[in-house]
Amino acid sequence: MKESQPSAIYLKDYKVPPFLIDKTELTFDLDEATTIVTSRLHMRRNPAFGKSTAPLILDGGEDVKLIGVAMDDYPLPAEEYRISEDKLIITATADEFILTCETLIEPQNNTRLEGLYRSSSMFCTQCEAEGFRHITYYLDRPDVMSVFTTTIIADESRYPVMLSNGNEVERGKTDEGKTLVVWHDPFPKPAYLFALVAGDLAVKNDVFTTQSQRDITLQIFTESHNIDKVDYAMEALKRSMRWDEEAYGREYDLDVFMIVAVDDFNMGAMENKGLNIFNSSCLLASPETTTDDTYLRVEAIVAHEYFHNWSGNRVTCRDWFQLSLKEGFTVFRDQTFSADMHSATVKRVEDVSFLKTAQFAEDAGPMAHPVRPSSFIEISNFYTLTVYEKGAEIVRMIHTLLGAEKFRAGSDLYFDRHDGQAVTCDDFLAAMQDASGVDLSQFKRWYSQAGTPVVIVTDAFDEESGTYRLTMKQDTAATPAQPTKLPLHIPVRVGLLDEQGAALSATVNGIAADDHVLHLTDSEQVFEFTGLTSRPVPSLLRGFSAPVKLRYDYSAADLLLLMSADSDGFNRWSAAQQLAVNELTSLIDQAIKGDDLSIDSQLIHGYKTLLNDASLDPAMVALILALPSQAYLSELANPIYPAAIKQARQYLKTQLAGALSTDFERVYHEHKIQGAYQATAQDIAHRSLKNMALSYWLESGSELAQQTVITQFESADNMTDQFAALSIYVNSISVNSIAVNTQHSKAAELLAAFYEQWQSEPLVVNKWLMLSASQENDNALATVKTLMEHPAFDLKNPNKVRSVLGGFGQSVSGFHKADGSGYQFLADQIILLNKRNPQIASRLCTPLTRWKKLQPELSAKMKAELERILAEDLSKDVYEVVSKSLA
Ligand code: ARG
Ligand code: ZN
Repeated sequence: MKESQPSAIYLKDYKVPPFLIDKTELTFDLDEATTIVTSRLHMRRNPAFGKSTAPLILDGGEDVKLIGVAMDDYPLPAEEYRISEDKLIITATADEFILTCETLIEPQNNTRLEGLYRSSSMFCTQCEAEGFRHITYYLDRPDVMSVFTTTIIADESRYPVMLSNGNEVERGKTDEGKTLVVWHDPFPKPAYLFALVAGDLAVKNDVFTTQSQRDITLQIFTESHNIDKVDYAMEALKRSMRWDEEAYGREYDLDVFMIVAVDDFNMGAMENKGLNIFNSSCLLASPETTTDDTYLRVEAIVAHEYFHNWSGNRVTCRDWFQLSLKEGFTVFRDQTFSADMHSATVKRVEDVSFLKTAQFAEDAGPMAHPVRPSSFIEISNFYTLTVYEKGAEIVRMIHTLLGAEKFRAGSDLYFDRHDGQAVTCDDFLAAMQDASGVDLSQFKRWYSQAGTPVVIVTDAFDEESGTYRLTMKQDTAATPAQPTKLPLHIPVRVGLLDEQGAALSATVNGIAADDHVLHLTDSEQVFEFTGLTSRPVPSLLRGFSAPVKLRYDYSAADLLLLMSADSDGFNRWSAAQQLAVNELTSLIDQAIKGDDLSIDSQLIHGYKTLLNDASLDPAMVALILALPSQAYLSELANPIYPAAIKQARQYLKTQLAGALSTDFERVYHEHKIQGAYQATAQDIAHRSLKNMALSYWLESGSELAQQTVITQFESADNMTDQFAALSIYVNSISVNSIAVNTQHSKAAELLAAFYEQWQSEPLVVNKWLMLSASQENDNALATVKTLMEHPAFDLKNPNKVRSVLGGFGQSVSGFHKADGSGYQFLADQIILLNKRNPQIASRLCTPLTRWKKLQPELSAKMKAELERILAEDLSKDVYEVVSKSLA
């Protein structure tokens, strides 16, 4: 452990910057050994800060070596500046001056992948949130916005493509014969949106004509062997540009929009002004190498980064506590876009499942924080599901409260009022409120209060008056640093059904309708529905109108009715999910007690109906058949018995498979697609149900099913079907319990064949690593250790680390090994990566943060590993997560 530990910074301490930087001129002399960065910063004291003689303090990093600093072109003598804890401090300055800094950096040794680094044979950058300070000394905070001019000097034979933000304004040669390219970005921006790329890249060009008839050049750059995999991203980009004009009235502003794919990247992608940089796993797509879910992900991320051009770049964040201002809003925008491109219900189910599984778990754990956090040690740790996904739910609730038209007026006002500014979540809310007249003062608490509210609903029907009453109570449990909670403004969308499942119109507050948004604002409230003749079945929280845990004691019959008849597609899924959760919860209890497992035949009947209803969207049927995940059931459980959850899920699947095997066989055949691969909603839906049916059919023990899986693996013409067949086989309970997992099993044989076929496609190899690492068998830990020695593995590449260790985290038999060796192994990897790549190391800690909820024997072993990590000399990133987990 270190002598002194890193300290937190607080939102309440925010002050405007003492200095501003009107213009930033950067010169990069790029070289494999050392890169020299020269900055000329046109600075002045900030009038908003007030009269001051405060010294100038610039942010830097331990990897930045200062060569020289000059003020108005006079070199500063050593006594006029000093470097302390990564800061460059200049004692006295004029009110207005030009500061020149020359720094030396070594991008080739930058393993943190923050700032300027090398990926394959190119140079690239990642500056959000605080990466720019690893390039040169700067006021590295989002409320300092500056006009950037960037000169790149490099050897053209190795770096023919040299890119930065904005427009290329000049190209020439230096005296030494190197090539020099100058880029100018006319839009003032914070340093986190700066980007630079240099390399030997191929490009795909296209054009988009905006609503005001301006032609925008679109360019996607990749290494030459990948350029045949960008067509889908290009089409997705054009769809995004059109959609943002139509849905939000937002037009693109520069003459060129560029995207670059890089293999080594900590996150998904980055919205740098005019020059987005993507993890290649979120951009490249081809039918042979890419699965359906990745196609959808590529489209969503291309859209997300593009949408940031307005929600993030034109209007940015004042400070990093406001991160959700751009991320929550932009996730909401990309979710709506994907819903418009495909099936809105399917999209909503997928997003809500993810939220309820992962964000709810975060909100119930030691890292729980408000959507607008009030303090942090390391901002990189706050690119969270809470800031992104719960942040998007907040914006969605505003949309529900205002209605589509007023929401659009609020968004127009927000962009109009704050164009070119760095603002806060309060500014966003104020624009929404001012444009709509809707009072959002209580609603605002969603930004500052952590934790998932529980809403408990009970009901009563008064026969005589035909009045139905819903009583709702809300409560939010304490979270770290927030012991007491206030009631939130929760929009609860409700409809009523009669016994046959028909929608009922009822009157609430004088308004008759079959769908009402109730405003739950007190800790307990009663809502009255009048004009009814018999007791209705309530369809509560339609569309998941608020990110809460809703409790209502539905009978199995109610759930079956909602599942088959509710007009709200989301709630049909939700009812089916609840039925399965109820069944699994009782199976888990039986498994914990060591009883023989048994299920209710009613459930099998419900699934049979589902499989025989041709009117249903096949994608929805597949989603229901997927059963609540291990992770979701873990979120619901307390304490968590991982092996019991696994056993319960496997048992239920096997029972359904055995009872309905002929239905699954039929459904498999019915949903086969003729013709070439297409990533359309319809085809994706058929493939998902077909492959889901196949996985059940195989579980029934059928020989023919086994042959069918192998044939599909061998003859599929697209990665979705091939990889589905492989994973179905590898994960199959029945097949593997017979074969036992020896090196010579058929599953091992298929995995080997798959690697053999795809070893030259890194993104496919990543899928192989993930599947191999997630296997359920007694060798799981040994397997993952072997994988980390495999030539395809590379500790420097975040995608590979995520594949192997992320996959391993899913293997109950590997990760949750009774002797704690799975936890120990993960802790070893965290310690190994702690200094090399703090962001990745910190993310790997997530499964360990759940220790308090685990069954006692495992909990103690997991906690011991966290303590072992804490004893190391830690990066801020890892320190924050581990120390908060143990607090
Ligand atoms: N702004 C990016 C996005 O969501 C994410 C960048 C996160 N980077 C980081 N180092 N935490 O689109
Ligand atoms: Zn984003």
